[in-house]
Amino acid sequence: MKNTVATLKQQKLDGDKITMLTAYDYSTAKLMDEVGVNTILVGDSLGMTMLGYEDTLSVTMEDMIHHTAAVARGTKNALVVGDMPFMSYQTSVYDAVVNAGRLMKEGRCQAVKLEGGAAVCPQIKAIVEASIPVVAHIGLTPQSVNAFGGFKVQGKSEEAAKKLIEEAKAVEEAGAFAVVLECVPGKLAKIISETISIPTIGIGAGNGCDGQVLVYQDMLAIFSDFKPKFVKRFADVGAAMREGIAGYIEEVKAGTFPAEEHTFKISDDVINKLY
Ligand code: KIV
Repeated sequence: MKNTVATLKQQKLDGDKITMLTAYDYSTAKLMDEVGVNTILVGDSLGMTMLGYEDTLSVTMEDMIHHTAAVARGTKNALVVGDMPFMSYQTSVYDAVVNAGRLMKEGRCQAVKLEGGAAVCPQIKAIVEASIPVVAHIGLTPQSVNAFGGFKVQGKSEEAAKKLIEEAKAVEEAGAFAVVLECVPGKLAKIISETISIPTIGIGAGNGCDGQVLVYQDMLAIFSDFKPKFVKRFADVGAAMREGIAGYIEEVKAGTFPAEEHTFKISDDVINKLY
């Protein structure tokens, strides 16, 4: 059954945790969709995990559209959320609506995500008014890494915690249908989840959120540059890939691959006429 904005809202009401994973290509999205993940986020984290940048700031609208369209082609049931890259919405409400529209029209996602609280509420409101569902993203917002001075847990002081609660209320009020809480203390994330009526999706925000999201290369141990504290490795796909690639190299070198069963046949009559 197709997951929609309404499904996610109902999941919060039912206490049925929402599962979200990132994906950036057709095959991975298809596999996740078949296994039954509720939502696939084409995150701008692709800048780091797929393109090898040190942060997400260089990701372009073209990058996001290209990868979102690939994910959408591989997805039947999951709700596909396309991430709005740095400077595609901060510049003006007009830019935000145009770029959200491009992500939906050319990338074929069913919702967009953007980072920020009260400061981007005019953009959230305008995008929602253009009939494009919005997921907000507060707490640690990686596009603001330079303003934060690094990737740090947010909302730890009383003042910062109260501000985060206000940001969550503001994005709900602006019309976001869900909000990602990134790197927020677990007890604060639980309070936020109980305070607002839209689903919260946590990453490094404890199990009191209405759902969880992880970057798939992190949870499958494919991305090895660093491992954030909040990541659990559910499978060592990185090790399986290394083993498979090493086996391939070994067999090609030894001449044992390709074997008979991997080789196309031709009749000896034809071959004999070639000498
Ligand atoms: O870009 C991304 O993958 C994200 C998630 C980490 C929430 O924003």
